[in-house]
Amino acid sequence: MKTLLIVYHSLTGGTRQMAEAAASAASLEPETSVRLLLATDAEPADVLAADGYIFATPENLAAMAGRMKDFFDRTYYPALDRINGRPYATMICAGSDGQNAARQIARIVTGWRLRAVADPLIICTRAQTPDAILAPKTITPEALGRCRDLGAALSSGLAAGIF
Ligand SMILES: Cc1cc2nc3c(=O)[nH]c(=O)nc-3n(C[C@H](O)[C@H](O)[C@H](O)COP(=O)(O)O)c2cc1C
Repeated sequence: MKTLLIVYHSLTGGTRQMAEAAASAASLEPETSVRLLLATDAEPADVLAADGYIFATPENLAAMAGRMKDFFDRTYYPALDRINGRPYATMICAGSDGQNAARQIARIVTGWRLRAVADPLIICTRAQTPDAILAPKTITPEALGRCRDLGAALSSGLAAGIF
């Protein structure tokens, strides 16, 4: 049995819907156990116990969300040199960009020696005004389908020993 850990933060619900979509599709693989954790709840032991990862965060102020960064701050050194080579993917929920949050995560997990098994999945909600940015988000079915595909790919790849 393999374990896929999905760690996420979400302020207005977009990233949560993306992470839940990935988790529900990943859970269809019987040989993979899926753990969906808020960044604030994820501990070094959760990172060490997983065989693969999906990191999901909003892009806020051209960076990953602070609570996601806090997750990496708390787990980076406890996991360093103990998870080398494990597969990961990143999902970003952004208004219009998302590239920098993806870059930040890629840089951090390069230190962990994780292996990217997909390009970052960036979903833009197109929220531009303060009201729209702070409103609850609804991720489109098409975008959720892409999140499901990513979760399923990670999960089945882990189960099959492809990664
Ligand atoms: C304080 C703040 C800063 C933001 N900065 C950016 C940004 O730099 N680039 C971007 O594309 N979107 C930015 N956004 C938009 C969010 O990424 C977008 O609303 C996304 O849906 C948030 O994900 P969530 O619904 O999971 O919280 C920002 C939102 C907030 C609240």
